[in-house]
Amino acid sequence: MRLSDFIVESTGELVSAFEQRAGSPAAAQKTPGTDMLRESAAATLHAVALDMQAQPAGQDADAPHAHTEAASAAPELLKVAGGHALARFNAGFTIHQLVDEYRALRASVARHWLPHGEAGDHERLAELVRFNESIDKALMEAVSRYTEAVAHARDTLIGVLGHDLRNPLGSITMSAQYLLRTEGMQPAQTKAAFRVLSSAERMRRMVEDLLDYTRTRLGKGLPVRRAPVHLEPVLRQAVEELEALHPGRSLALRCSGELEGSFDGARLAQMLSNLISNAIQHGDGASPVDILVDGADDTLAITVRNQGPPIPAALHAQIFRPLLRNAAPRASNSVASSGLGLGLFIAREIARAHGGQIRLDSSDEAGTSFSVQLPRR
Ligand SMILES: Nc1ncnc2c1ncn2[C@@H]1O[C@H](COP(=O)(O)OP(=O)(O)OP(=O)(O)O)[C@@H](O)[C@H]1O
Ligand SMILES: [Mg+2]
Repeated sequence: MRLSDFIVESTGELVSAFEQRAGSPAAAQKTPGTDMLRESAAATLHAVALDMQAQPAGQDADAPHAHTEAASAAPELLKVAGGHALARFNAGFTIHQLVDEYRALRASVARHWLPHGEAGDHERLAELVRFNESIDKALMEAVSRYTEAVAHARDTLIGVLGHDLRNPLGSITMSAQYLLRTEGMQPAQTKAAFRVLSSAERMRRMVEDLLDYTRTRLGKGLPVRRAPVHLEPVLRQAVEELEALHPGRSLALRCSGELEGSFDGARLAQMLSNLISNAIQHGDGASPVDILVDGADDTLAITVRNQGPPIPAALHAQIFRPLLRNAAPRASNSVASSGLGLGLFIAREIARAHGGQIRLDSSDEAGTSFSVQLPRR
């Protein structure tokens, strides 16, 4: 008898054995109902049997990588494994408990099959190998669906939290602005109100970055709305806002060429603001930050340059990765980043959404510059 037929015929018995094996204390604590366990174990066994039958005859352990890829599995197997993983996730199973179920299923089948039947050793072994491969395909699919579900839940939570933080932040900002306009305040009070304002502004930027990040993670991409715009006043305002927040720092903006075009002005201001914030925060605090904006015939170039220890070439490829921060050597007068490590990721997403790109050049002599090239349409 073939193992796949054995599985179909003995499903009941195998599932009972599986239930006993799956009853580890960790699994038992959260078992959401034996019926569900029974049903999904039976469905998985059937799908595995189908997948084994679908494997071409003669393809067995001797054929390297014969069918280890989930993509080559029978669709029913992937559907059952994926659905099972999502059901487990929703029922509060941990990924360890999920994997443990596969271990138990595998063990119960192997135990019952080995003493069974009259087939020769080689044949029985080959059948077992086929079975293991089908189980592994199911397990890979289950783990990847489960981790996707975890990531999606996390991103949704961050998105909702970030979204709901906007309103209270807005009222903190408005109240601080109101205080700053109030006459007769002591210098110390004005300073405190200014600190409230600049911290709220920093939080607002972090929340916006976080929302943009979750948007890209949830597969929605960064929304970019192009419209005819003159970039000079838009970018100048972004620079002035940062000047107000960092009174001791010198930001030198130089604009040249044709700066009118079809762009998302707010997004480009956000991108510039991320790059300048980095130059202020991670660069050498003593020298000015140079900001060059140049509109040529077919491209618009925006460059932000600061002095300070160069970013090593080995880091250039990864520095744009989300959630990476404090990777580069710091200037002696700069403090460690308390940011989320999203500024460069979002700057690059904005450049890309405009069909452009961002480049990093960094050396002892020339300092560190991030240059964005955007095609003019
Ligand atoms: N202009 C720069 N000079 C030197 N190092 C930089 C510069 N810009 C970025 N870096 C390095 O790259 C890392 C990632 O930058 P990124 O803007 O993505 O995150 P962050 O500034 O740490 O946090 P966030 O921008 O989310 O507040 C920084 O932590 C810093 O180590
Ligand atoms: Mg940053």
